[in-house]
Amino acid sequence: MECRKLGDRTVSAIGLGAMPLSVEDHPPREQAVRTIHAALDGGISLIDTADAYCTGADEVGHNERLVAAAVRGWSGDRDTVVIATKGGHTRQGDGSWGLNGSPAYLRRACDASLRALGTDVIDLYQFHRPDPGVPLVESVGALADLRHEGKVRMVGVSNFDVDGIKDAQSVVPIVSVQNEYSPAFRSSRAEIDYCDAHGIAFLAWSPLGGMSAAHNLASRHPAFAAVADECGASPQQVALAWELSQAPNVIPIPGASRPDSILDSIRAADLHLTDAQRSRLDHS
Ligand SMILES: NC(=O)c1ccc[n+]([C@@H]2O[C@H](COP(=O)([O-])OP(=O)(O)OC[C@H]3O[C@@H](n4cnc5c(N)ncnc54)[C@H](OP(=O)(O)O)[C@@H]3O)[C@@H](O)[C@H]2O)c1
Repeated sequence: MECRKLGDRTVSAIGLGAMPLSVEDHPPREQAVRTIHAALDGGISLIDTADAYCTGADEVGHNERLVAAAVRGWSGDRDTVVIATKGGHTRQGDGSWGLNGSPAYLRRACDASLRALGTDVIDLYQFHRPDPGVPLVESVGALADLRHEGKVRMVGVSNFDVDGIKDAQSVVPIVSVQNEYSPAFRSSRAEIDYCDAHGIAFLAWSPLGGMSAAHNLASRHPAFAAVADECGASPQQVALAWELSQAPNVIPIPGASRPDSILDSIRAADLHLTDAQRSRLDHS
């Protein structure tokens, strides 16, 4: 598969978003592992996870443990796989999501992620979402310290605007920004352009519109369905190919709970849209 730059690594142009494997209505473990193995066998070398991808407070780290176990059990070379995790989102007892960007919490969260992943160093550690109660540079400063201590190889941020990215860069080298981007959500254009100009990978989250909307992409976005018909591709492949065509730093990370979904998504890397098709999608 085509590769793209992520810090000092190159990774597959399409990554796997592992969230659907551990949140509400997640598949049985055996199916989850098959999905991860299908992704890796298909050439994916970037898996996105987070400590908070679970169903509640008593399961924090579920997705990290699952991903790590699946990668360890894979027949290929683990060293070719970049596992990107995140800290800064919390899960409450009732399953609701919270935020904690305090440096002390992020240090604890990183240590827990190291244990969950069964590793001494995290490939890419991302600050999940700014906490309005904590100055951004303090939160990112914790990640800088973790990198300095060797617990984290590369640092990324998520759900940041351009000013926030600049602030983060003043504290530590930022290799990736993970923001929402899809046919339904296009307002991350400024962050894509800024990252492209500064050698930062842009990881597009919910690139198919999110877990509940992804299967209805064709009916929600008729222009993508029309191009899919022209190309003999799925509308989801067209959405991912369109995202890849936006800039050379964009790496969509579609989620999947079934092998067939991620195998279909992988083929988007080989789908090249014409300028005319891209323009129609841009303006749809
Ligand atoms: N940083 C953040 O704040 C943040 C927020 C949300 C998500 N994320 C990350 O972004 C990743 C992706 O987002 P997401 O999972 O919310 O949404 P998504 O990727 O837009 O949609 C995921 C759903 O798409 C379906 N799908 C995938 N490929 C398909 C294909 N080729 N054809 C048809 N259906 C397909 C899957 O269905 P099946 O389940 O049937 O396989 C899956 O449930 C997450 O897994 C997570 O890693 C990050």
